[in-house]
Amino acid sequence: MTLPAHGRPADEILDELTALRARDLPTHGGKLFAYVYDPAVPGLDDLALRAHGLAASTNGLDPTAFPSLLHMENAIVAAAADLLGGDDTTVGNVTSGGTESVLLAVKAARDGRPEVSAPRMVLPSSAHPAFAKAGAYLRVALDVVPIDPVTLRVDPDAMARAIGPETVLVVASAPAYPHGIVDPVPAIAAAAAARDVRCHVDACFGGWILPFWRGLGVDGEPFALDVPGVTSISVDLHKYAYCPKGVSVLLHRTAQLRAPQYFGYAGWPGYGVVNATVASTRAGGPIAAAWATLQRVGRDGYRALAATTLEATRGLHEAIRAVPGLAPLLAAPESSVVGFRSDDQGVDVFVVADALARQGWHVQPQMSFGGIPRTAHLTVTAAVAPHVPAFAHALRDAVEAARAVGPVLSPFPQLEPAALTPEVVAQLAAAVGLDLSAGGPTDGTAAINAVLDAAPVPVREKLLTAVLDLLQRPAP
Ligand SMILES: Cc1ncc(COP(=O)(O)O)c(C=O)c1O
Repeated sequence: MTLPAHGRPADEILDELTALRARDLPTHGGKLFAYVYDPAVPGLDDLALRAHGLAASTNGLDPTAFPSLLHMENAIVAAAADLLGGDDTTVGNVTSGGTESVLLAVKAARDGRPEVSAPRMVLPSSAHPAFAKAGAYLRVALDVVPIDPVTLRVDPDAMARAIGPETVLVVASAPAYPHGIVDPVPAIAAAAAARDVRCHVDACFGGWILPFWRGLGVDGEPFALDVPGVTSISVDLHKYAYCPKGVSVLLHRTAQLRAPQYFGYAGWPGYGVVNATVASTRAGGPIAAAWATLQRVGRDGYRALAATTLEATRGLHEAIRAVPGLAPLLAAPESSVVGFRSDDQGVDVFVVADALARQGWHVQPQMSFGGIPRTAHLTVTAAVAPHVPAFAHALRDAVEAARAVGPVLSPFPQLEPAALTPEVVAQLAAAVGLDLSAGGPTDGTAAINAVLDAAPVPVREKLLTAVLDLLQRPAP
């Protein structure tokens, strides 16, 4: 499958792409509870695509060459700052996604303390892996504070105790992705400020919906720049701002705090390089698409979408509560995540997920970890609201089907990392129905998840990376 010898007709290419896309999970319609965010607003996709197209050939490498991008970036940052408690000292940038916002927050924190030779960050175990990735890329060690396996919450006193002389950053989430819990930001930020350490709030997931929920009467502590001690905050526009993928915002309380985020270089015979973000050549399309989406939806539109999502979230929570054998993760949802675990040994969450998938509903299985059992995660978006009764029905059926099947156990409970050669991993994959040549599972994911679940964390990581390595091979 190499480059075609001769160019192909456009229609043929688009037909092929359409056929390829038909094998993907459904991005619209509210039946996929992870990866995608669907507002079900007529015409919004078209507007975003046209805006994307208008800017697709620009390059954010040099904002003085393409002032349209600088204008749109500053407008997006101003909107985010307005929503997230910023004031006239707030500055920020548009990044390509939550992970990049987190990487840059960690870089700014690390490089803001050049006297610390072995920098560390303190974070709850529920914080997004983007922080672990930033730590690995930037050599910032992690001090992970476990969340309580029953309440799923982090103890702010334990966070405070974990801060040491080498801590350059303390992290809180609003909310943390796995269970949708909003960390106690005021207490965590106060502890960080007391030690003169930066505090980043990861509101990548919740930053564009929680402010509206607060206005709709959902209680919760403040979590944004209005909280003393919070020095930076991230919010993904490709989540609850319902923009096409590739846009997040990182805000800093002051320009001085942002300064170490920049990279400038003039020590070569080429053009002067100055980057606020990881990429140098920077796609203008996602920035224009996001700008257009924010302009189109507006504050009242986002408030209405947040209200619809709130109604859907409460409906899904009640649907879970009503099914014998399942338990919702929280007494009441505090963000737009709902989740469930099994409270019946005969009902395996991974099997329930497969049974739901067979009915067209896709929840996200989560491995057991730190005393927390297997769970299923549902990211709720506005598009699901009209379909809550249908989901409730499907969930009831799925649990009955899962009870009939019984739990799935790993046929390989004891795997040694050193034994996991590519050949062994390929055999394991085949044994649990993962078709590496077709690029996915042939009949559900319960067996695959059971193998991962039974393995210790380092083995899980090795298996995941080994499978991806086998999938990412040049097409034959
Ligand atoms: C809380 C949180 N932080 C960071 C991220 C990473 O965002 P991205 O996948 O855009 O890199 C996510 C993604 O789900 C998230 O939920």
